[in-house]
Amino acid sequence: MTGLPDPQDVHLTLMGRRVLLGITGSIAAYKSAFLARELVKRGAEVRVVMTPSATGFITPLTLATLVGNPVHSDFTESIESGAWTNHVELGLWGDLFLVAPCTAQTLSFFAQGACTNLLHAVFLSSRCPVAVAPAMDLDMFTNAATQENLKTLSERGIKIIEPTSGALASGLDGKGRMEEPEVIADFVEAFFLSNMPLSGKRVVVTAGPTEEPIDSVRYLGNRSTGKMGFALASRLADLGASVTLISGPVNIKTPQRIAERIDVCTAQEMYDATISVWPSMDAGIACAAVADMRPVNPADKKLHRGDLPDSILLENTPDTLLEMGRTKSSSQVLMGFALETDSAEESLKSAESKLTRKNLDFVVMNTLADKGAGFNHDTNKVTVLQSVGAHTEKRIFELKTKREVAYDLIELLSTLLI
Ligand SMILES: Cc1cc2nc3c(=O)[nH]c(=O)nc-3n(C[C@H](O)[C@H](O)[C@H](O)COP(=O)(O)O)c2cc1C
Repeated sequence: MTGLPDPQDVHLTLMGRRVLLGITGSIAAYKSAFLARELVKRGAEVRVVMTPSATGFITPLTLATLVGNPVHSDFTESIESGAWTNHVELGLWGDLFLVAPCTAQTLSFFAQGACTNLLHAVFLSSRCPVAVAPAMDLDMFTNAATQENLKTLSERGIKIIEPTSGALASGLDGKGRMEEPEVIADFVEAFFLSNMPLSGKRVVVTAGPTEEPIDSVRYLGNRSTGKMGFALASRLADLGASVTLISGPVNIKTPQRIAERIDVCTAQEMYDATISVWPSMDAGIACAAVADMRPVNPADKKLHRGDLPDSILLENTPDTLLEMGRTKSSSQVLMGFALETDSAEESLKSAESKLTRKNLDFVVMNTLADKGAGFNHDTNKVTVLQSVGAHTEKRIFELKTKREVAYDLIELLSTLLI
């Protein structure tokens, strides 16, 4: 048993976050086990780097078992084979490098930029933000050298999780005790909420199909599963955006951190829900496969075989994307989808016309002519057209998983949003 979380758990506030946990040689290192467990319990993926000194306080085996990943404390994994721990790879892996506890000595090395062990090398090569939770005796903490080091690190953007006051291992009473694991985990959560590139941005995403009733049991629908829209919503939320997800009838769980999910059924409901929130949004992604036509007079009870009409009269549904584009302000960014079935040339022409006709910033075209693209697949192959001044820029992407496609599309959207 590693205590690894069940991904279906709705309380996984750190799901999808990668925390590189650094542990140094303080008596508070025993608390790192609780911290590691707390981070994992909240859904984070955790890898651990320890200083050689820390391994005397708590065993790497305990931490490796708790986080379900090998623990690194040395540059060389095996002297015989020559295998070594790639500190650069570790430094790039994390979304946050959290050193807890952080000794006076490690603070000093960080401030100097010295590199005498693997943890220092990871610190120097990490590209992600770094947070430290100092832990030491009262006099060590108040010492001018330690305070100067903390000031230097803080000025360089390192987050300091202030120690608390209380009884210390030395028998003294005062400031220097590492903050409690739950409080540090809360700090990590708050960090991810406020330090992500799309923090403070509000985005509406529509997803899934619509169902247009013929009678109380039959409807006109389409084969959209909602997977692409949900992947986009999930990526946006992971980057800190406040996402309103408006979904037609689908069989998918709401991704982590989605601010609001509104379930709708018909094109009219999709239109009403989207248009009511659109003015307060910074961006919109219209990924839903909304019906263009609906039966004019749906029966309010089930029609029996003998009562069925020979033909069903259809009327146009309101065009949600057209209305979003028509009312788009100069600061709003709008991305629409175009599913095509024609030849590549025809599809492109039709998508380009949608880009200008609906006043979009981006149109994401996928064609059912491409294997693995469109409905009912976990993959998609898209071409993105972007309106840049008077001309259109075209980007062709390879066949990828819908999650990877979401990464690409949100990266593009972010260029106009940040
Ligand atoms: C029992 C014991 C407890 C210690 N606790 C702390 C501590 O809480 N904070 C600290 O800065 N140093 C503490 N030290 C001293 C560090 O272990 C020592 O400076 C070590 O070299 C730190 O190495 P590191 O920063 O590379 O892990 C302690 C030493 C011992 C023997």
